[in-house]
Amino acid sequence: MVEEVLSKVFWVVSATVFAAATVGYAQQVPCYFIFGDSVFDSGNNNNLQTKAKVNFLPYGIDFAKGPTGRFTNGRTIADFIGELSGFKDFIPPFAGTSPERAHIGMNYASGAGGLREETSEHLGGRISLSNQILNHKKAIKKLIVPVHRLEQCLYAISIGSNDYVNNYFMSKPYNTSHLFKPNQYAHSLILLYHSNLKSLHHLGARKLALFSISKIGCTPKMIRSHGGGKGCAREVNNAVAIFNKNLEDLVKDFNKNVHGAKFTYVDIFSGGDPLAFKVLGFKVRHKACCTLSPGEELCTPNKPVCANRSEYVFWDDIHSSEATNMMMARSSFDGPLVVVAIPVEGMNYIDLGAINPCLGPNPPPGCNPPGSHHKKPVPINKYRIGCTKIHRCHRDTE
Ligand SMILES: *[C@@H]1O[C@H](CO)[C@@H](O)[C@H](O)[C@H]1NC(C)=O
Ligand SMILES: *[C@@H]1O[C@H](CO)[C@@H](O)[C@H](O)[C@H]1NC(C)=O
Repeated sequence: MVEEVLSKVFWVVSATVFAAATVGYAQQVPCYFIFGDSVFDSGNNNNLQTKAKVNFLPYGIDFAKGPTGRFTNGRTIADFIGELSGFKDFIPPFAGTSPERAHIGMNYASGAGGLREETSEHLGGRISLSNQILNHKKAIKKLIVPVHRLEQCLYAISIGSNDYVNNYFMSKPYNTSHLFKPNQYAHSLILLYHSNLKSLHHLGARKLALFSISKIGCTPKMIRSHGGGKGCAREVNNAVAIFNKNLEDLVKDFNKNVHGAKFTYVDIFSGGDPLAFKVLGFKVRHKACCTLSPGEELCTPNKPVCANRSEYVFWDDIHSSEATNMMMARSSFDGPLVVVAIPVEGMNYIDLGAINPCLGPNPPPGCNPPGSHHKKPVPINKYRIGCTKIHRCHRDTE
């Protein structure tokens, strides 16, 4: 049962599991702990002295409880993973939550948090990954949560973005870009990640989902600061890609060498091209949905937002919209986030109907585009994404 959990959550690309989960599947793990930065934060910064907090409208405009400290209009990727794993309630933030919750799960993530302690210090208070793990340690020791239970929990981590955005690619007040080349910096971050994961493993964590850094060079903020205001900042994406590759290797290393480790690397980088988002139907890919003051990356309080929030990839200048979060969570649940190999298939192929809406069984009866009859459809599961199943036909692999 335990072994099945992560495979159900992140590896199995079975349409039945996915379909069942979306209509309210039985809870698949007894507990769920969340670590990371603003991608996962659900309110841990609200009482800190920091610029990195968002407990005001329009944040949370699409969230049942309104603004909570989530850095988006609705639910986060971590929220969706919880729903897909069958949790009926949201996992509450560590800050201000009853200690009893340590049996079921807590969210320790903190906006602006990073692997390095100095990361984001210009923004004010934040909780680094190692301090989040200390909070976790306190919480589970206080309640004496048994190890055999902790070993069954799901743990999700999304960390590292701020070590680039609010450190390496911010020359003042940081000097890491003078001290390290991109590969050296990635290596230094992975060493920190490694020791943090050792600590978590020591505290009983076995089933971990480690999220890659997303394509942050394509956020409006980084396009403006490092992409000349035009396209994705290649320099940023290249640096992040090195980190991700090392993280993937780290996951393999743990699974091979560390007792009981069942780690999964979740790729939310590869699918993050503006073109891929276009294929998925997002109309606005380079602009925030909410109103921003000049030079700011977070929404201005109580100002208007875009008319149709599900058409926007980005909610503010750096954080994704709920629509994007849902898409990324579903694909990480359902298989790696690889949208579509544009150079291989080309837009024509897509227009010809190779992308089927999320209806019917997988594979659908006929994914052969017009003009290629009598070839047997071969679904390539890694091309499935969210509610948009993408099937390649046999001819493409010839
Ligand atoms: C880099 O900055 C840190 C503080 O952020 C400082 O302690 C260190 O001396 C600096 N290193 C160099 C080479 O400037
Ligand atoms: C918002 O956009 C989505 C995606 O393009 C579309 O399905 C939906 O109908 C739109 N809603 C409104 C109210 O226009």
